[in-house]
Amino acid sequence: MQHRTIGSQTVSAIGLGGMPMSIEGRPDQERSVRTIHAALDAGVTLIDTADAYHRDAGEVGHNESLIASALDSWSGDRDGVLVATKGGHLRPGDGSWTLNGRPEYLKEAAAASLKRLGGEAIGLYQFHRPDPEVPYAESVGALAELLDEGVIRMAGISNANPDQIREANEVLGGRLVSVQNQFSPAFRSSLPELQLCAELGIAFLPWSPLGGIKSAGDLGTKHDAFAELAQEKGVSPQRLALAWELALAPVVVPIPGASRPESIEDSVQAGDLQLSDDEVARLSDAAKKVEQQD
Ligand SMILES: NC(=O)c1ccc[n+]([C@@H]2O[C@H](COP(=O)([O-])OP(=O)(O)OC[C@H]3O[C@@H](n4cnc5c(N)ncnc54)[C@H](OP(=O)(O)O)[C@@H]3O)[C@@H](O)[C@H]2O)c1
Repeated sequence: MQHRTIGSQTVSAIGLGGMPMSIEGRPDQERSVRTIHAALDAGVTLIDTADAYHRDAGEVGHNESLIASALDSWSGDRDGVLVATKGGHLRPGDGSWTLNGRPEYLKEAAAASLKRLGGEAIGLYQFHRPDPEVPYAESVGALAELLDEGVIRMAGISNANPDQIREANEVLGGRLVSVQNQFSPAFRSSLPELQLCAELGIAFLPWSPLGGIKSAGDLGTKHDAFAELAQEKGVSPQRLALAWELALAPVVVPIPGASRPESIEDSVQAGDLQLSDDEVARLSDAAKKVEQQD
């Protein structure tokens, strides 16, 4: 398994995204725990979650609690596992997503996440999405305070543009360790942010790296070049897509979601799939063409 760095911590090159185990269409708890254990047994040491990964109104933090409980019942060394959560996005329970980037709210949300996750501090806390009602520096300022108070060990942001990345890093006094943006063969619009992170040495975590829960299974159908090269190499198009993302920069750490052990077991092996420069260029060109057609 290849490794990468987020701030001061070494993590597996492929993380596990927790969202499919807590929102609409989620599996039962037993299968979710098996999925998380399969990831950990395969060497995954990064799990991405959020307080908003839940379905009904009364179950905020469903995914955080699930991950905490799976880590409790896992026989391995949980100290080496980085759990990255987020705050600032909310789900009222009707399927919609709302925003709250007020600093006082973010501080309360982080305290509640810490309680659910357990331990002395949250490993990585990410501001989930900019709130147009609140100046960005004020929201990120809450993360600076959380760092100073020791509630969180590392700070990251999500769904940010290049200006926001620079601003957040400044507000945090150079302590911004990660940016989590949407990025996949079908969605390459975050390439400027990926490249800026590579320049600044900040980890870039592609979210929905396989195209999202509903589209991940169709990756090979939509992207011929990925299907063809995957077949040549005898791997799944999904594994190839993750290997392609890893090859784009050493700061990239994809977090594919899973609700079945088999999915994450396959995805994790992208960390061992080496691609030549020509193969990476071929896949990048093909992804660009599909994007232009859409
Ligand atoms: N920051 C944000 O705003 C934001 C937004 C969305 C997501 N996220 C994070 O990013 C993570 C990943 O995104 P996502 O879950 O939306 O989408 P995704 O990773 O693109 O796709 C997830 C789906 O891919 C399937 N899959 C995974 N590995 C596979 C493989 N090797 N072969 C075939 N299918 C495979 C899984 O199927 P099964 O369910 O059958 O296992 C899963 O449902 C989320 O879980 C969440 O942690 C963050």
